[in-house]
Amino acid sequence: MVSLTLNGRLVDVEAPEDKPLLWALREDAGLLGPKYGCGIAECGACRVLVDGQSTPSCVTSLGAVAGRTVVTVEGLAAPDGTLSAVQQAWIDEQAPQCGYCQPGFLVAATALLERVPDPTDAEIDAAITNICRCGTYPRIRRAIHRAAALRAEG
Ligand code: FES
Ligand code: FES
Repeated sequence: MVSLTLNGRLVDVEAPEDKPLLWALREDAGLLGPKYGCGIAECGACRVLVDGQSTPSCVTSLGAVAGRTVVTVEGLAAPDGTLSAVQQAWIDEQAPQCGYCQPGFLVAATALLERVPDPTDAEIDAAITNICRCGTYPRIRRAIHRAAALRAEG
């Protein structure tokens, strides 16, 4: 069993410490937002925030996040359901196509904007290494710029 703060709540996840975090989240915590893509930290579909850092959950063990703060795509909105600026911008720009990879993009974009509030295209391309088979990259870039503007408006 591992205790952690997950999407704002202190939880005990009943799974072995060496279980990959992705599968502990999906199978034991019931959070299906993080997706399996490559399993080798390349595609980004499984990304979650660990203490605010965008982290591939496929190669992170459950034990490695003991006592830490994990946020999945399900935890990006405020407790009252208000969407984050990134989520709102994703809708405004209609960023997803099939949607499979998008939870990881939302997480990576959230982490980027915390670090770089108004990123350039080059900074976006350097920071967001997620892979999208549908090729949503131009929309993602637009959505991140829009999210930056929304955040600046407060
Ligand atoms: S499934 Fe984790 S990075 Fe691809
Ligand atoms: S939206 Fe389809 S794989 Fe990214």
